Amino acid sequence: MSDATPNPVDPTPAHERENPEPHEQENFPSLLLLFLCSILVFVSALYLQRYSGNFDPLVYNEEVQGAGSAAAGSAAVVDPIAAGKRLFVNNCVTCHQANGQGLAGVYPPLAGSDWVNDGEEALVRILIHGMSGPVVVNGVTYNGAMPAFGPLGSNWKDDKIAHVLTYIRQEWGNKGAPVTKETVARIRAETAARTKAWTAPELAEFHPKK
Ligand code: HEC
Repeated sequence: MSDATPNPVDPTPAHERENPEPHEQENFPSLLLLFLCSILVFVSALYLQRYSGNFDPLVYNEEVQGAGSAAAGSAAVVDPIAAGKRLFVNNCVTCHQANGQGLAGVYPPLAGSDWVNDGEEALVRILIHGMSGPVVVNGVTYNGAMPAFGPLGSNWKDDKIAHVLTYIRQEWGNKGAPVTKETVARIRAETAARTKAWTAPELAEFHPKK
């Protein structure tokens, strides 16, 4: 009915008499849901980035007590070789390679190296403060830079350094004795004032064969 033809019973114009045009409701619940979902996705992504360990089956944080090993209540028992291998895979493998052979001309081998197998004094120092300049390993001269892992304040605690060194001293046919965290603690204290990487000549006094 149009406004032009007034209703004889009800004189109110049609547009005032009839129900308002239907329209879509503003969809607050689903907007809210979308917002919550995106927060969930964002938080999950953060969580994965933080804790997934790149989905590497060898990743394991031995500092988390009881994770996957010891029974609840007792302290986690850390197998130094297994822990050392994980540390090696995560921190050393890109340069020294999984087979411990290094990269010809660039990164020296750890397999068969007397720096690794002989006395631990030089070895622990290399790990803590790094090494640079010419060094002879298995008869070949290398001249690169090995990063420092354990200067005071680093998150490489004494037992971490001990684990990775114990691992490289017993892998690939190497026959070095295990390195204890007490040794690492002593050498860390002795070298606390040092800030630079070691050179091979500087390490000679700790490494009689060189
Ligand atoms: C960025 C590459 C790089 C990473 C990562 C690295 N190294 Fe090295 N490393 C070197 C280089 C280069 C040298 C030789 C330094 C020089 O020329 O003076 C070296 C030397 C060494 C040496 C003494 C020489 C030898 O071959 O025996 C040891 C031991 C060693 N690294 C152990 C490790 C361990 C253990 C890790 C992991 C915790 C590690 N490195 C991580 C590059 C690296």
